[in-house]
Amino acid sequence: MLEKINETVSWLKSKTSFTPDVAIILGSGLGGLTDKINKQFEIPYTEIPNFPVSTVKGHGSKLILGELSGKKVAALQGRFHFYEGYTMQELSFSVRVLKYFGANLLIVSNASGGVNPQFRVGDLMIIDDQINLMGVNPLIGSNDDRLGPRFPDMSEPYDKTLIKKAKAIADEAGYRCHTGVYSAVTGPCFETRAEYRFIRTIGADAVGMSTVPEVIVARHMGMPCFGISIITDIGGGEQLEVITHEEVLKVAQEAEKKVSSIVTELLKQI
Ligand code: HPA
Repeated sequence: MLEKINETVSWLKSKTSFTPDVAIILGSGLGGLTDKINKQFEIPYTEIPNFPVSTVKGHGSKLILGELSGKKVAALQGRFHFYEGYTMQELSFSVRVLKYFGANLLIVSNASGGVNPQFRVGDLMIIDDQINLMGVNPLIGSNDDRLGPRFPDMSEPYDKTLIKKAKAIADEAGYRCHTGVYSAVTGPCFETRAEYRFIRTIGADAVGMSTVPEVIVARHMGMPCFGISIITDIGGGEQLEVITHEEVLKVAQEAEKKVSSIVTELLKQI
């Protein structure tokens, strides 16, 4: 794997002298950040050696290099999900590449279903821990000790200092923003009501279909992580609310400005 990573990083370095400090996965909630990045270079995924070939939403997926809040960022516009058929290694490969390209912090966002009864649609949740319910792990297989340890510590997947700072920023701005536990399932089905209840019972506050693999891979390499969720729907309630992808996108779009402003300010403060 390291050979492939090095090959991709060498290619990137042959294209640009830019070295990122921060890797950002522009999931739901951070798409709007692209407008704020002072872009220096944009590379479609299709041109990057060893990047997985996009299936459905291939077009428009690109790596953006530029400045945001005075920090050099490498932003992945377009994330790969397990439910699309990528392997865990494929969907997290870009995180490895950005680490070896220079990034020493990973910022991720996503849309998720709230299972904490105090959550409302449109709330934000800064992720302070995670539960992997995907039944797979991107580190399965032979371990390359040059990348990270065989049995990585996961006692603090999300950086405590960044959580504190981001919460203060959100509170100051008057946003409804919680901190909580994100659990990841494979999807693509939304959960049954029994599944939402189960997820709540085991200690999660929100559930989604991404982020956990990327954070596992980042932590494997010792990279600090910051994650934030937009609560786009509430799962497991008494009333039978039908969740649609359209509704998820609509709520995510509305909350996007808040997430973007938290991340922009957070970058200023670090
Ligand atoms: N479940 C899983 N993933 C999601 C949800 C949900 O309710 N909402 C947005 N992504």
